[in-house]
Parts: sequence; structure tokens; C-alpha cells
Amino acid sequence: GASHGQGPFIAAIDQGTTSSRCIVFDKDGRIVSVDQKEHEQIFPKPGWVEHDAAEIWTNVQQVVIGALEQAGITKADVKALGITNQRETTLLWDKATGEPVHNALVWQDTRTDTLCRELGRNVGQDRFRRETGLPLASYFSGPKIRWLLDNVDGLRERAERGELLFGTMDSWVIWNLTGGPDGGRHVTDVTNASRTMLMNLHSMSWDEKICNSMGVPMSLLPEIRSSAEVYGEAKGALAGVPVASALGDQQAALFGQTCYSEGEAKSTYGTGTFLLLNTGHEAVNSYNGLLTTVGYQIGDERPVYALEGAIAVTGSLVQWMRDQMGLISTAAEIETLASSVEDNGGAYFVPAFSGLFAPYWRDDARGVIAGLTRYVTKAHLARAVLEATAWQTREIVDAMNKDSGVELTALKVDGGMTSNNLLMQTMSDFLGAPVVRPMVAETTCLGAAYAAGLAVGFWSDTDELRANWKRAAEWTPSMEAAVRDREYKNWLKAVQRTMGWIE
Ligand code: G3P
Repeated sequence: GASHGQGPFIAAIDQGTTSSRCIVFDKDGRIVSVDQKEHEQIFPKPGWVEHDAAEIWTNVQQVVIGALEQAGITKADVKALGITNQRETTLLWDKATGEPVHNALVWQDTRTDTLCRELGRNVGQDRFRRETGLPLASYFSGPKIRWLLDNVDGLRERAERGELLFGTMDSWVIWNLTGGPDGGRHVTDVTNASRTMLMNLHSMSWDEKICNSMGVPMSLLPEIRSSAEVYGEAKGALAGVPVASALGDQQAALFGQTCYSEGEAKSTYGTGTFLLLNTGHEAVNSYNGLLTTVGYQIGDERPVYALEGAIAVTGSLVQWMRDQMGLISTAAEIETLASSVEDNGGAYFVPAFSGLFAPYWRDDARGVIAGLTRYVTKAHLARAVLEATAWQTREIVDAMNKDSGVELTALKVDGGMTSNNLLMQTMSDFLGAPVVRPMVAETTCLGAAYAAGLAVGFWSDTDELRANWKRAAEWTPSMEAAVRDREYKNWLKAVQRTMGWIE
């Protein structure tokens, strides 16, 4: 039953990289119930990653029903539904039938690396950076759309006849929730649109010139809306409930961590890791390999921008150790195994599985384990796996400090991996700064719920939300500076070894 007092409630759907979940929150921002379902990761070739969007939509419907059942509530108790999602993952579907025309190309997929290099020819990787805030890299959606239209038989013709729709996962879920082929709303929000490489960051609209250069017909594209407003009413299990927010998962976490003031930052540890710094109403250019992106926009208020450091592989390296290597049987075991040794035994693991993201943006990089000797055990490797997450965070923080001119005083963290104490301590050691985790570590769903609740007047303003933020844990640095500096140098050496692998 609803153990957290009386309703009404807000529900949020998080359509993530490895699973979809639905969480019901009460007015104090506390979790009432959670339901979650994993979907298949499809790896057709090295570097390719796909999802079955029909499977994802089925899972989304199931977790919504599951979360309501567990909370012991009905749709009448739900005042609004918020959406958050894995970003950039690219889907085309048939407008009339609602059938995906191909598996979704996941953000981690590198098949567009050559295409991105061609698009940057004579101009360079920053060809569209001024308009979009992004370097040309296989990570973003625009080139993925182009790849589908160029490589799947008949798709370009169907696109030109106006039969297809494009969407990131927010659009796909909202379109289906609001009726699908039968009147579904084809919308996206500014944060998700800012990751397509097709939206102009300053006008918040699709950039016709870039769409032309990229070969993307604009008739495919959803309408761009704010992150917190009613897009339409749900049909099905939640019939009548307003669908009232959409934010990319990392922006949702920024919102859920209540980073509403310029200078506030958070870092989320999921399959990848993403550190976002609120830069207020100004889109700040990065000179150190970070992305300029939209943080959020509440209704018709002015948009808030962010600088982002994106790391492709962190939690997914632990999953890889479990699923592909069989070195552990549960994700939690990585901590036990890593804790059984004092240090990394000289081994460094740079998981450049999708190339290197921030601050390097090298699609040509692939993973390496460096420093191996006969001495190294799987426990040392487990340690190197955790250190990889901490060092990648350190590199992002260094870039943030350079771009913003401000030294980090503490890092707010969240996400699944933050339950790993050894990792959190290592991170604090490598950063030389405190690491702080809030009571509700599910900040992604929380942020989507907050935005939806604001849109329907369930919460009155961001001050009310701020009051819900409570510190649960803090780690402080305890490593000698000399040791840290030596280790950092070794890490950076290992990073250099990953580059230029793909020619
Ligand atoms: O940009 C990709 C990001 O949105 C994926 O997040 O939490 O599913 O790893 P996550």
C-alpha cells in the first residue's frame, strides 16, 4: 500500500539505456514505488549497438502498471506523468502503423564514425559547434538518421513521401502514450533536441542549414517544446493523466539534484557518466572538450544552459566484466573483489569501447588494459575498472575548471554506481574534493517528476523542490597528493595508448 501518506502522486518514466522504469513519488519527493524492466542489448557488429523499440514500448507500459499496483493506487491518484530518457538514441517509425522501420541506433553505437569524418572534411570536427554546442562525433542523432536513410532500403523515399517520423526515446514514448497512430503527439523537448546536432541552441529551433548538410528531411522531425508543460493526455492504463514533462536523463538528474543556480553541478553514474554544470541563461562555449547543451526550460520561462562532460563507459564496464568476461556474477561483486587488494597492481583499464568521449572526442579510440605483468589478478583488474570511472571523472572536472575558471569545491553524485563505497572514496581521493550523495539517489526520475509536477501546479516553484534535497552520505579525500599525481600520470599514459586504433 501507499506507505508514504496520502496522495496525490506524480509518476515518472525513465526509459534508460539498459532498462525502463517507472517511479511513483509523493509530495515530499520520496519514492513510493518502483518497477523496472531490462531490455535486450543488440550488438550486431563490433561498435554497433541497437535496441528494439517495440520491446521498449511494451516494457514501458508494463512498468507503469507495475509501479501503480505496487503503490496500491489508481490513475486517479496520479496528477501528472513525467518522461526522462536515454538521450541521442535514434529511431524512425511508420506514422500510419506505429511500427519501427529499423532497430533504434543507440548513443553508444559508432557506425557513423566515417560519416562524421566526411561531414567534417575541410572544416573540422567543430563544423556545427557554434550552432549546436556539439563536436561531430558518432554519439549524436543527426548522423544516425542520415545513416539509416542511406543504408536501409527504401527509407529515404519513404521519408520523402512523409510516411516516417524520427524521435529520440522521449518522442517515441510520448507519441505512443498519447495515442500512437491514433492522434499521438509528435513532440520532443529542448534538452533532447539539443543532442540531435540539428537544433540551434540559441533559437531553440531546428536548423535548416544543418538539416540540409546532414541530409535529414525536416518533415521527419518532432515539434520542439519546453521541458515542463502538458504535451497531451495519456491513453491506455493512465488514460486522462497529463503527460507533463520531458528531459534527457542527464538534464533530469540536474533538475532532480536541484541544481537551479548558476555554478551548481552534478555527476550521474549509470551505464555512462555525465557531469553537468548549470551556466544560467548563457550558452557557454567550451575550449576544453565539453559540450554546450540545454539544461532545462520550464514552460515559457527562459531556458537554462549547461556545460557537460560526457563519459561513454562507466557502469557498462562493470556489466561487461559480468556478462562478457564472467569475472563477477553480480555488479555489486566488483566492490568486494576490488576491496580484496590494496591497489591496481600496476594495471590501468581505459574502456574506450565507443571511442573516447569528453574531453577527447576520438571515434578512432578503442579500449586498452595497460601495465599488465604476471602479477596482475582479476582483483587488480576489478580495481582498475573502478579507477577508470574515477579518473574519467577527474579529467572532466579538470576541463570544467578550465572552462569556467572556478575550482570545484564538492561534487554532488547520484545514480546506481554511487552505492559502491570504494568507488566513491576513490573518486574523492582522485579529485581531492568531497563527494556528496543525496537521500534520493534516483534523481533522474525525480527530476522528471519535479518538472511534471511544476507544469500542473503540484509543486509551486523550485524553492519548494530545493527544500526536499537532503544529504545522505559524504566522502572526503584521504590519498597522498604524490601518490595521486603519479597514478594520474600513468592513467593519462594509458589513455594515449587507445587513440588511432581505428584507421
Ligand atoms: O547520453 C546518453 C545518456 O543519456 C545515457 O544515460 O543513464 O542510460 O547511461 P544512461
